Amino acid sequence: MRMARYTILGVASALAATAAALALPASAQQAPQAAGDPREAVSLSAPEIENLLSGMRTYLETIQGITAAMAENDSKRVPPIAAKSGAKLLGKAQPVTGLKLPPAFASMAFDTHDKFDKLADLAAKGGSRSQILTAMRDIMGNCIACHQAYRLAP
Ligand code: HEC
Repeated sequence: MRMARYTILGVASALAATAAALALPASAQQAPQAAGDPREAVSLSAPEIENLLSGMRTYLETIQGITAAMAENDSKRVPPIAAKSGAKLLGKAQPVTGLKLPPAFASMAFDTHDKFDKLADLAAKGGSRSQILTAMRDIMGNCIACHQAYRLAP
């Protein structure tokens, strides 16, 4: 029993070492989800991808923060949380990145930032719970539409 386990471990580590030795440079690798993925690939450099995904995580935090505020019926907390994902988030992107994006992708991105700024205004002006949730519904429609249509590729 014991011997067999050591043998398996030995084979596994030999395989891991071979895989590491054969590893392709990052630029030659396919995006992990590329096989059979029908979405249009958006080609960006590694730092651009990092920046875009970091913005995506900010989006998700914003959505969670607004949902939490609404769950507690506290719409006064919404404006600064929504504004984090507004147009100011675009300030972190390099202008050249915009030129590489498919126009429909770029316009969905601009529209999403704009909708977050409008939601911040709406909540600051005392918008109702239903108005805020309607704005959230529309924003999340953008999240879904873009994710259905595009994927990133190095
Ligand atoms: C204009 C297009 C677009 C819009 C709008 C968009 N995303 Fe994304 N998002 C992407 C792409 C492209 C990826 C990478 C997906 C891939 O390569 O499979 C991504 C990835 C993500 C990720 C993964 C981040 C990581 O670290 O890997 C999260 C979370 C995310 N998006 C959240 C959101 C949320 C929430 C919204 C709406 C508020 C949103 N996104 C709107 C294009 C978009």
